[in-house]
Amino acid sequence: MKTVSELLSEDIIIPEVEIKGWVRTFRANRFIALNDGSTLNNIQCVVDFENFDEALLKRITTGAAIHVKGELVESQGQGQKVEIQVKELIVLGDSDPETYPIQPKKHSFEFLRENAHLRTRTNTFSAVMRLRSALSFAIHKYFNDNGFYYMHAPIITGSDAEGAGEMFQVTNLNLQNPPKNEEGNIDYSKDFFGKETNLTVSGQLEAETYAMSLGKVYTFGPTFRAENSNTSRHLAEFWMIEPEVAFMDLAGNMDLAEDFMKFVIQYILTNNKEDLDFLDNRLQDEEKRKPQAERSDMTLIEKLRFVTENNFKRVSYTEAIDILRNSKPNKKKKFKFLINEWGTDLQSEHERYLVEKHFKCPVILFDYPANIKAFYMRLNDDGKTVRAMDILFPGIGEIVGGAQREERLDILKERMAAINIPEKDLWWYLDLRKYGTAVHSGFGLGFERLVMFATGMGNIRDVIPYPRTPQNAEF
Ligand code: 4AD
Ligand code: MG
Repeated sequence: MKTVSELLSEDIIIPEVEIKGWVRTFRANRFIALNDGSTLNNIQCVVDFENFDEALLKRITTGAAIHVKGELVESQGQGQKVEIQVKELIVLGDSDPETYPIQPKKHSFEFLRENAHLRTRTNTFSAVMRLRSALSFAIHKYFNDNGFYYMHAPIITGSDAEGAGEMFQVTNLNLQNPPKNEEGNIDYSKDFFGKETNLTVSGQLEAETYAMSLGKVYTFGPTFRAENSNTSRHLAEFWMIEPEVAFMDLAGNMDLAEDFMKFVIQYILTNNKEDLDFLDNRLQDEEKRKPQAERSDMTLIEKLRFVTENNFKRVSYTEAIDILRNSKPNKKKKFKFLINEWGTDLQSEHERYLVEKHFKCPVILFDYPANIKAFYMRLNDDGKTVRAMDILFPGIGEIVGGAQREERLDILKERMAAINIPEKDLWWYLDLRKYGTAVHSGFGLGFERLVMFATGMGNIRDVIPYPRTPQNAEF
């Protein structure tokens, strides 16, 4: 059976076709708009109501699953080339119009979040999720084309890859003989068969071990952060892409990240035009409702092209601080929290200023102060900065975080000691520095932030099927 997408691209009359899908609308007891998820567009199925039982036609309601058989003919109406002249109509699954939540009208995103199990039956969410799928395919394609191996990092792990303590602990309340502490109470922290484990915050450390044998690897899997942040850019469960490459330094890491980001965005520009155009129109409607001063002067497609066609600006943290010190984001005043101290982390306000107002293009910030970055980053010769890089995107802020890794055993041990990471916890990670150590680098791309950028959606909860946030883990 052909899909709606395939049928709509036919330009010949086909005497016998059949299609299954969900009714979007049924107008004038005559025109069924049918969608099967293969495309944004519906196929129009024309019913001669005189030939059908009234009781059957009553069951053609929004949301119902139906099976249509008929003839594919040239459409008399506007907006579509072909339509189906219905000969046979079978209702596969009824949908009670009184209770079906997804009506043929505009629903708020908040409402649709509460109906996440049905929201992909709308144009916006089906377009977003098709793009999400296309982007993940493009990511695998890029790495596969470029000699990387796909590595599955563990989800349950004993180590804290970021050393930031933002981990969900794994507990198993059903253990028959739960571990007890000295007072005889159940010790939930040691609940993974007597060991303490967490959900991974990043597959990086494990990816490093594979890079140091297979050369070029990447992970692409779920990661978890137990940070209680309720922003439009944070999730408790998100997907991360983490390439890791042996013998590559920070400059090579920047080149890789830029080339990779350009490839995946070009991929959807080439292959997903219909969904992108739809989301572009949605975004422009949304922009029109904003005050003039806050409106973006670029369309979604222009923003995507801008990334593929321009070099990312590479700026050191120290240069960025100078720019921010001398800036006046709103004519009269400088930044509310003045950056007078080198060594503080940038707030998202600063990042957005650099990207959206100052450089007006994606920016790669590098060589951050060591004290605000993770323990595994390569210390520079100045003893103060590390070979870190963050990529900042317009409208998103940080989309990528990465680094050249500390490959020297003694310095890595010192940095771990400084933040009280016991060597015994990461003995295997230290082994890499004992046996055949070498320069290596990698980065992590937050997949949902990429999908936000690519679709123009403003809230990260709307680009993942079932968002996990401090408020929401229902579905
Ligand atoms: O900057 P982060 O924490 O870096 C790492 O985890 C490194 N181990 C990556 C590496 O070098 N292999 O996270 C990387 C990216 C961020 O830039 C952001 O895009 C995304 O992951 N991210 C989140 N996305 C959604 N919700 C959250 N809570 C996120 N935290 C990070
Ligand atoms: Mg980061």
